[in-house]
Amino acid sequence: MNLLVTGGAGYIGSHFTKAALECGHRVSIIDNLSTGNSFALDALRHLANSKGKSACINCKALFSFYRGCYGDKKLIEEIFKTNQTDAVIHLAASSLVSESLKNPEKYYQDIQLTRNLVDMMKKHSIYKLVFSSSAAVYGRPQSVPITEDSPISPVSPYGEAKAFIEKMLWEFASKNTEEDYKLNFVALRYFNACGAAADSSLGESHKPETHLIPRLLLSAADATPRCQIYGSDYPTADGTCVRDYIHVEDIASAHLQALKLLCSNTANTSDGQVSGEIINLGTGQGFSILEIIKTVGSLTGKPFEKQFFGRREGDPAILIASNKKAFDILSWSPRYTKIEDMLATAWQWHKKTGCP
Ligand code: UFG
Repeated sequence: MNLLVTGGAGYIGSHFTKAALECGHRVSIIDNLSTGNSFALDALRHLANSKGKSACINCKALFSFYRGCYGDKKLIEEIFKTNQTDAVIHLAASSLVSESLKNPEKYYQDIQLTRNLVDMMKKHSIYKLVFSSSAAVYGRPQSVPITEDSPISPVSPYGEAKAFIEKMLWEFASKNTEEDYKLNFVALRYFNACGAAADSSLGESHKPETHLIPRLLLSAADATPRCQIYGSDYPTADGTCVRDYIHVEDIASAHLQALKLLCSNTANTSDGQVSGEIINLGTGQGFSILEIIKTVGSLTGKPFEKQFFGRREGDPAILIASNKKAFDILSWSPRYTKIEDMLATAWQWHKKTGCP
């Protein structure tokens, strides 16, 4: 298939693009490089090049990169026309809970930009969309594991924007009597992405780095590794926040399964059915901050000096997914189930590149 990946130079986008190229898809990326990485584009070009050589076609035929905004209708139109796009994998967005509390406008912008993107899909009769949503739509869940029909109750503009976009996609996917366009979408609600490509060609790097695991790996290089813990008075076993960490390559493979699901749907016909699915992506296991620090400590051989701070605004105490729906509907289950194995890929990549 010919795919457009928005945010393909980012952490999850680049790992998805790698998986898609390895599966034989042709990929165009649109990314404004505000948080995406040029090293990721280099690695993907290299991969496309080697795939192209073995298939006697040039790398350009398999992979193209457009620098710009995914809500820029003119640029999207050019991409759709040039590449005969079959499906869009929409991952580009601002994605930091704490930043969204300080700068909500930046996050609400993603709603309008996504609307522009889907308008262009409609204009060019492109029906298939995989959308990157987030566990942040659940806010502070009352119980875990969180199923997809748990209350939607975001506590940050980031979560609000994701929840609003999901609603908007439902509108596009519902029968519209005046027009025959009906979007066919899968929204994937990610829990905490982690890890790096098993071959260490890609990994996680943000600037500034705010995420727990890459921050720990960065600090492990110091003579006295230190870590900051935001909150030790949560209602959890050890008082620190618990998260469901899912390996980035498992997230990528779930997107490929979602694409398969979209291809098996006949939602571009006016059959009166709503053609959307919303699915959690997690492993169903939770680890506290202290457990992660301990695991990274034994992996790197560097025990951390712990510095305790107050709670970080917008952090829910516990997020653990039910992944039953992903298993049932996408026939997907995570390949990485041990946190040590997930973190080992991140550490390998860190040792190879010095990143994040
Ligand atoms: N944390 C620390 N010290 C640090 C960094 C983080 O204690 O140096 C804590 C945070 O306060 C939080 C936990 O570690 O309790 C995880 O924080 P991250 O920043 O790694 O990840 P988040 O859970 O805040 O958010 C991530 C993504 C979001 C997504 C969410 C879904 O960034 O986009 O997972 O669960 F919505």
